[in-house]
Amino acid sequence: MIRNPRDLQRYTAGERANHWIVGICFILLALSGLAFFHPAFFPLTMLFGGGTWTRILHPYIGVVMAVFFLLMVVRFAALNLIESRDIEWLRNVNKMVDGNDHDMPEQGKYNGGQKVLFWGLVLGMVLLLASGVLMWRAWLNLPVDVVRIASVVHAAAAVWMIGLIILHVYAAIWTRGTIRAMMYGTVTRAWAKQHHRGWYRKMTGDNN
Ligand code: HEM
Repeated sequence: MIRNPRDLQRYTAGERANHWIVGICFILLALSGLAFFHPAFFPLTMLFGGGTWTRILHPYIGVVMAVFFLLMVVRFAALNLIESRDIEWLRNVNKMVDGNDHDMPEQGKYNGGQKVLFWGLVLGMVLLLASGVLMWRAWLNLPVDVVRIASVVHAAAAVWMIGLIILHVYAAIWTRGTIRAMMYGTVTRAWAKQHHRGWYRKMTGDNN
């Protein structure tokens, strides 16, 4: 199925590796971050070699995620610019969720929902990184109030990001045939025609 020569290439190996490095870092950060957030989650520190190691590793993993996320932004930002057809798509999203996607406007490589999510992730990452650096302050010697405000922003941004990623993963599973795009790089023509017809036409030259 995956090796069908008629399938369309959606992601290169480099793009997939980039995405999964961010994904793995995100899971590790969520697990270690939750361990700091509430004592009920403290046992999660065992996954990282105890409390001290969790505290040491979390910010470094955060830096790795930020660097690779920035690379993703460079790769994907231009494809996520919001156009008028995306606004139209977002206006009709309820109908699509109810199972009627017949009169949704044609979409390019990404639909309006994916684009809004993309910029939501960018916002969350900027807030997480900025507040995280302020908290990781040993050499900065900042006033304690700055660190306190940064902690609140960091927690709020983390909740925002976890919510968005739950949505992202749910949408990827809900739209059958999508996960393989990020696993193997390809999608079927039927998938592309149904969900991203503009991209399908561009890739195949088929104007039907
Ligand atoms: C850990 C579980 C994750 C799964 C199962 C997953 C799955 C996927 C899939 C299947 C796609 C392809 C969608 C398509 O081509 O239409 C995708 C794209 C993408 N993912 Fe993920 N992902 C995960 C985590 C993340 C994380 C943590 C981030 C960033 C914080 C992220 C950011 C993106 C971005 C930016 C795209 C490209 C879509 C766009 O530019 O709008 N993903 N993901």
